[in-house]
Amino acid sequence: MDMYQKREMRKNKNMDENTKSLPSTSINYYPGHMAKAKRMIMENMNLIDIVYVVVDARCPKSTMIKEVDNIIKNKEKILIMTKKDLCDINKTNKFVKYYEENGYNVLVVDLKNNLDYKKIFELTKNCTSHIQEKRKNKGLKEKDIKALVLGIPNVGKSTLINNMVGKKVQNVGNKPGVTKTLNFLPTKYGITLLDTPGILWPKLDDEKQALNIAAIGSIKKEVLNMNDIAYYILNVYIEKYPNILKSIYNIESNDIYEIYNLLAKKWGYKEDDYLKVSERIYNDFINGKIKGITLDEEEGNN
Ligand code: G4P
Repeated sequence: MDMYQKREMRKNKNMDENTKSLPSTSINYYPGHMAKAKRMIMENMNLIDIVYVVVDARCPKSTMIKEVDNIIKNKEKILIMTKKDLCDINKTNKFVKYYEENGYNVLVVDLKNNLDYKKIFELTKNCTSHIQEKRKNKGLKEKDIKALVLGIPNVGKSTLINNMVGKKVQNVGNKPGVTKTLNFLPTKYGITLLDTPGILWPKLDDEKQALNIAAIGSIKKEVLNMNDIAYYILNVYIEKYPNILKSIYNIESNDIYEIYNLLAKKWGYKEDDYLKVSERIYNDFINGKIKGITLDEEEGNN
């Protein structure tokens, strides 16, 4: 690619190095629904014994709900970091430590391969033993623990509910909010789960965080600038995980434009069809083809 083409690519595809932003529509994707969802969740919190806050282990900070502690208040909580199979566990463990130091019980889980549900049940039992103890002291029988799943889109909330309940739950979906009639579903372990997860939004501090949640599929594809996201993902590979380029794409280069050209050729696209290349890079990332990556960096390490 010559200099002119590079310049055109930047200009036409919004890929200037200084313009790695998402369109503002992406960031404000659900505002009305989100405010309503938050209100409904807070109004019903008195019915809940424990909250499962679900985040993606690849970006535990970026996918954390805005003002989560204000929403859950003094309820028991477990932070469930999903997609362990896709993350860079060494990096993710630093976030585990951080959240544990900030009063969370934390589990990093692989929900896809059904490996970690027992841990969730056991930890729930431990965290709520004081509730049962109190009942026992009053001469009451143990009760079913009522749990609510909270998280931003695409972090694994429905997978968690469906698998804990042991069947596909109809109500689980990606529409923000909770239903008017609260419907609790039994699990085998003395826990009942609200059938609809609370879908909320993260605190969007900066553009990098917006790019992270876009890369993991939390923002609807239709409103994304695909070139921006793919450009960001490729830069992460180049700067932090160059082995991915070699092992998945068989490419050894740190020149983003050269990589685009090589991928276009490899995938049989026209040389300047950057959008198609970008879509494929994005799809590979959100479909779980790329493993061993954590996008969030510790404070001061960005
Ligand atoms: P949500 O309700 O929070 O929006 O998320 P959902 O459960 O729909 O999960 C989003 C995607 O993440 C699903 O993939 C799901 O299978 C996948 N997923 C959830 N937990 C894990 C995990 O621990 N590891 C991996 N690798 N993937 C996980 P999908 O392709 O959208 O759906 P499906 O075809 O798998 O059903």
